[in-house]
Amino acid sequence: MDRPLNPFDPSHPIPPGQFVGREQEIEELKAALAHAKRGRPRHFLITGDRGAGKTSFLDYLRTNATSRAQKFNFIVVDFAVDQNSTRLDLARTIQDKVNELLAIHSPIRDLLGKTWAFIQRFEAAGISYNPSEPSPENHREIIRSLADSLRKVVSAVCVDVSTGEPNLGYDGVLLLIDEVDQSSDDLDIGTFLKLLLERLNSVGCKQVVVGLAGLHSTRQVLIKSHPSSLRVFDELPLGDLKSEDIEGLLAHAELQVRNEGYDRFSFSPESIGQILEFSGGHAHFVHQFGYCAFEKACRSSGDDFRVEATHVVSGAFEPRGALELIGDMYFQTSYERIVDKNEMLSILDRACESPSVHFSIEAISAESRLDIQTTRSALNELTELSILIVDKASGLYRIRHRCFAYWLKQRRPS
Ligand SMILES: Nc1ncnc2c1ncn2[C@@H]1O[C@H](COP(=O)(O)OP(=O)(O)OP(=O)(O)O)[C@@H](O)[C@H]1O
Ligand SMILES: [Mg+2]
Repeated sequence: MDRPLNPFDPSHPIPPGQFVGREQEIEELKAALAHAKRGRPRHFLITGDRGAGKTSFLDYLRTNATSRAQKFNFIVVDFAVDQNSTRLDLARTIQDKVNELLAIHSPIRDLLGKTWAFIQRFEAAGISYNPSEPSPENHREIIRSLADSLRKVVSAVCVDVSTGEPNLGYDGVLLLIDEVDQSSDDLDIGTFLKLLLERLNSVGCKQVVVGLAGLHSTRQVLIKSHPSSLRVFDELPLGDLKSEDIEGLLAHAELQVRNEGYDRFSFSPESIGQILEFSGGHAHFVHQFGYCAFEKACRSSGDDFRVEATHVVSGAFEPRGALELIGDMYFQTSYERIVDKNEMLSILDRACESPSVHFSIEAISAESRLDIQTTRSALNELTELSILIVDKASGLYRIRHRCFAYWLKQRRPS
């Protein structure tokens, strides 16, 4: 039987046309681009939990930064860091992207050829590399050479902010670096970026903006590398999506299925409520619960494939359903750390009875029949494992992700 394609994709960033919410953050980043266009760059750092939507946000921003409708015409370079990334990798990525974009402009081909000559120099140094010396791939001198090359490119192709000379009409260079929490000590990314931006500033190149994204631990990575590197970036933490954003996301999904010719397809209001309840607003969880519910509906509904609340529930709880998949990725490792600790499990069992409710140390200690000291140290550990979060103002705790409670109940039915 014909069936529609599943409109949810939990394993990939959302295409910019289906991006929902984050209005305030978008405004801030558009302001950062507008400032850079006028020679006053503001650099930014997007932080968030795993699956919060950091990469999707960078993708959305990239589209805006090259959009005529938004009146932006930036040269955008994307780079995702991993444990092996080096400064030279970043320089090569910038070289490739800039050359690819500017290849159509024959008058500057010569300039581009010469601009990146320093990369070959460092590559050649790598061949005769002596392991007792600092790695040439992360050499400090790369910073200066990269900054000087970027300056040459910007002054040849971007609008000159002081004279208004259009050159090739570009607004500047937007450097987007994802997964910064993954960077190695050798890359020393905080020092690298701070010195790069200072050098650019000192040579009068003010149309380069750097946007970083990573887990909350990115802050520590930057501070460890250079204590004042964090100060260079305006931090934008991405929290959970709001209910109306999730409703918007489901409306997009509904439209996508209808556009395939299934024009009676819909999500029942109860199914939307159930996805909101299970996901707690976490972007990745919305897609995972939606994906599994949709599969269930396709297997069990009539011709219209309408998604009902029962599909969301059964898609969540079935073997290899949404809860198990989410649990494997987000909860299993932390759970293994506490599975033999009765006092923690006893606290969690109580807290999971009402996962949206905040509780005090005193209340949970009385309910779990543990003394205050034991309760306090258990709560600290559970917070460190990100199973609980604490509200700094009130000192009250709650379960971090509501669906953790459903996952735990599945594991500990008694
Ligand atoms: N604003 C959004 N609108 C709609 N869907 C979103 C949005 N943000 C994220 N998503 C969806 O949430 C999931 C996670 O998104 P993404 O991969 O961007 O998160 P991430 O924070 O980069 O994750 P990770 O920490 O694993 O790198 C994806 O399925 C994506 O499609
Ligand atoms: Mg990501």
